[in-house]
Amino acid sequence: MKKDQLQVLNEELKQHIDAFYKQATPLVYGGGDPDSRIVLIGEAPGKNEVLQGKPFVGQAGKNLDQFIEILGIEKTDLYITNVVKMRPYKINESTGRESNRTPTKKEVGIFSSFLMRELEIIKPSLVVTLGNIALKCITQDENSSIGKMHGEPVMLQFGSEKFNLFPLYHPASIIYKADLKDIYLQDLHKLKAYLKSLNL
Ligand code: URA
Repeated sequence: MKKDQLQVLNEELKQHIDAFYKQATPLVYGGGDPDSRIVLIGEAPGKNEVLQGKPFVGQAGKNLDQFIEILGIEKTDLYITNVVKMRPYKINESTGRESNRTPTKKEVGIFSSFLMRELEIIKPSLVVTLGNIALKCITQDENSSIGKMHGEPVMLQFGSEKFNLFPLYHPASIIYKADLKDIYLQDLHKLKAYLKSLNL
């Protein structure tokens, strides 16, 4: 059962990360339907995701929910995960407040082999990466760029597994860059047509 295999993998990841950082580190594992043929991959959890132990439940998650609605699919029918499964944050020295930050290459490197094993368990037909971090990790190419690759499907192979990749901008990016919204909507409509062509 995929669910059991994922549980074993998550336990191994937790042990690995706690040993690496020499402390108990809260992790947010992938969630949703492990039998889904579609996997969405984000960057890393934020504060709300850590509090609730689920990916994409904060503001970026609200945007993602709207996008999923446009696609005409149910969130519960998808499997949703992140490259990095702990919250990367920085502390503002004057206020002492924590805020999210982009994961470093080193952090991505620590988690990436576990993401690949997660995908080997799920065996999706389609992977939708959300943003640059997930795109670079999945293509295993630092030169991959969401600005150039968004909205166009490509075929990827790792090991014996082949799957279709559809890169999207990160749903949080339209919070910061309103001018991306139209492009994002166009990409979603292309993705909707692509899902249909794949019978998904
Ligand atoms: N952004 C992500 O990339 N992942 C989450 O789970 C939440 C916000």
